[in-house]
Amino acid sequence: MKYDELLETAEKEMKEKGIFDALTFYGTETGYSRVTNNEFFKTIALKLRTIDARPADTHTHLFGRELSTPILAGALSNPRAGGMKNPLISWAMGMKEAGSMMGVGITGSKDFAGVMDVGVPTYRISKPFKDRKKMVAEMKEAEALGAVAVGTDIDFVKGGKGGYKTFFDAEMAPLTSEELGELRQETELPFIVKGVLHEDDAAKSLKIGADAIVVSNHRAMVLDFCAHALEVLPLVREVVGREMVIFADGGFMRGSDVLKALAMGANGILVGQAILLAHIADGQMGVRDMINEMTAQLQRAMTLTGCPNVKSVDGSILVKRNFVL
Ligand SMILES: Cc1cc2nc3c(=O)[nH]c(=O)nc-3n(C[C@H](O)[C@H](O)[C@H](O)COP(=O)(O)O)c2cc1C
Repeated sequence: MKYDELLETAEKEMKEKGIFDALTFYGTETGYSRVTNNEFFKTIALKLRTIDARPADTHTHLFGRELSTPILAGALSNPRAGGMKNPLISWAMGMKEAGSMMGVGITGSKDFAGVMDVGVPTYRISKPFKDRKKMVAEMKEAEALGAVAVGTDIDFVKGGKGGYKTFFDAEMAPLTSEELGELRQETELPFIVKGVLHEDDAAKSLKIGADAIVVSNHRAMVLDFCAHALEVLPLVREVVGREMVIFADGGFMRGSDVLKALAMGANGILVGQAILLAHIADGQMGVRDMINEMTAQLQRAMTLTGCPNVKSVDGSILVKRNFVL
C-alpha cells in the first residue's frame, strides 16, 4: 500500500474495531507530550540545495549490519490497548523485508525467541527491573540467541502512564551509574541506553561505556510536558562527541522528520506508531511498505537538500521556525 492509503486504512480499521482512541490518544496525564511528539517537526524547515545534487543513498551501517534505511523499529512489546493479538513476529517479518532492524522491549522468552527466528537483525531493551538479575538474564538470553545489541530503557523507572493510570511502577527502580556500568560489563554486545533527554544522562552513558543512546521520551508515556527528542538532540550530540551512536524517536511518521533528526546529529531513528498503524492497515506487508515509503520520502528529501548519503547530512540544511501554521 502507498503511504496515504496505509494511514487511511489504519484509521478506518481502528474505528471499526473501537480501538482508535486507545491507540491514538495515548500518553501521560494531559497528553501534551504526545501532542508535541506529533507536532514538533513543524517547527523545523528544510533548505533546498540542488546545485550538484545527486540521487541520495539511504543505506547505513549500524551494529555491524548493513541496512537499507536509517529507520529502525523502536523497542517494541505487545500493545496493551485494544486487545490486539501479539503482532511482534509479524512486525519483525515486515522489518526484515524492508531491510531494516527490529527492536524488542518488554517480552517473554518465547516471544523473543520467535522474533529471533525471523532472522532480522534485532536488539533487545530490558526494563530497569528492581530485580537486576532479571535484566542480566534477559541480556544473556539475547546474546545467546544472536541479538546485535542489548540495553535498557532507563526512563521507565516509575513505570509507564496511560492518562493518569500508572503501570509497572512497583517493579522498576532507577539505576545508578555504577549499576549501569556493571550491566554494561555483563555483555560483549553493543550496549544501548534508551530514554536519554538530559545532557547529564548522555555524559553518564558515555562514561559507563555505552555504545549507543536513544534520545527519547518513551512514546510520551512516562512524563507529562516532556521534551521532544529533537529539542535536545543537538546538545546531546555535542556532549557525547562524534563516535557514539545516537538514535532519536517520538512521533516520526515521514521521511522529512527523519532527515531533520539526522541533520541534528542522529545516526538513525526509531519508530513505534508508524509500525503499529501500518500493521493494522495491512499486516506484515503494511510494515514493509511503511518503512519503504518513509525511506523513499527520506531519499527524495536528501537528494533535494544536497545530502548524497546518510553520513553527509548536516545541520546546515535546517531552519528553525518560530511559528507553526
Ligand atoms: C506497542 C509499543 C510497545 C512499546 N514497548 C516498549 C518497550 O517495551 N520498551 C521500550 O523501551 N519502549 C517501548 N515502546 C516505545 C518505543 O520503543 C519508542 O520509544 C516509541 O514507540 C517511539 O515513538 P513513536 O511510537 O511515536 O514512534 C513501545 C512502543 C509501542 C508503539
